Amino acid sequence: MTTALITGATAGIGAAFARRLAAGGHNLVLVARDAERLQRQATELHDRHGIEAEVLRADLAEDQGIAAVEARLGERTHPVDLLVNNAGFGNKGRYLEVSMADELRMLKVHCEAVLRLTSAVTPGMRERGRGGVVNVASVAAFVPRGTYGASKAWVVQFTQGAARDLAGSGVRLMALCPGFVRTEFHERAGMGTESVPGWMWLDADKVVAAAMEDLTKGKSLSVPDPRYKALMGLTKLAPRSALGTISSRTGRRFGPK
Ligand SMILES: NC(=O)c1ccc[n+]([C@@H]2O[C@H](COP(=O)([O-])OP(=O)(O)OC[C@H]3O[C@@H](n4cnc5c(N)ncnc54)[C@H](OP(=O)(O)O)[C@@H]3O)[C@@H](O)[C@H]2O)c1
Repeated sequence: MTTALITGATAGIGAAFARRLAAGGHNLVLVARDAERLQRQATELHDRHGIEAEVLRADLAEDQGIAAVEARLGERTHPVDLLVNNAGFGNKGRYLEVSMADELRMLKVHCEAVLRLTSAVTPGMRERGRGGVVNVASVAAFVPRGTYGASKAWVVQFTQGAARDLAGSGVRLMALCPGFVRTEFHERAGMGTESVPGWMWLDADKVVAAAMEDLTKGKSLSVPDPRYKALMGLTKLAPRSALGTISSRTGRRFGPK
């Protein structure tokens, strides 16, 4: 039986990963801040699928929290075979409207934690000759708009670079770039989503199903859903200066408020 560790496992995309992996018979290590919710989830997944679900309460915006997860990932007697770096959040407001403390908290969770946790688990995976890391980024990584997108661009660049460096070792790394997904994300950030057109919303379980398929195929970048694949194709054709203007205009009109 293999073991997967998922950060931000209690809600949205992370919870969808937990459901899918538990249904596939994988043991789980569930990471988030809300201990009660983690425990409830672990019990439910154990009872429904007969898998072992460990709970690890950690705040990935804190050094101590990152260190606790690093320690679990470095355990050689109970190795983790799949790491899903999924925990993340959005800050409401444009550049200079968000406090520096909140900007830095985002970089800690989206970038530092992803770097440190990936680096804690991959040496053991390389020794064993197998393992996988999914780093959840966003399609926002591909348009020059906002510090959220900038942090996710780092995730994509880091993941694809590391995937190349570890090619042939049996360790697969993949950046997952979904579009809008119905989760707690926007509500937690205090963003209204009324202006986002219905066709742009994705279902977390379908995003995860597509991601797992892409990981099996050995892709280092996954953009689930044909609608977003088409949009991403267009972003490759547009000059970067025009892309900034278009994404700002459409973001203001159709994006979360
Ligand atoms: N929803 C979208 O439209 C969308 C689109 C593209 C990419 N994404 C990315 O997908 C990932 C998951 O987002 P989601 O939409 O599923 O969000 P969500 O429903 O709000 O879930 C976020 C999860 O992360 C955990 N979390 C948040 N801050 C944390 C911290 N400091 N330390 C540890 N755990 C933390 C939360 O649990 P606790 O509060 O208990 O810690 C929760 O389990 C994020 O990286 C996000 O940027 C989302």
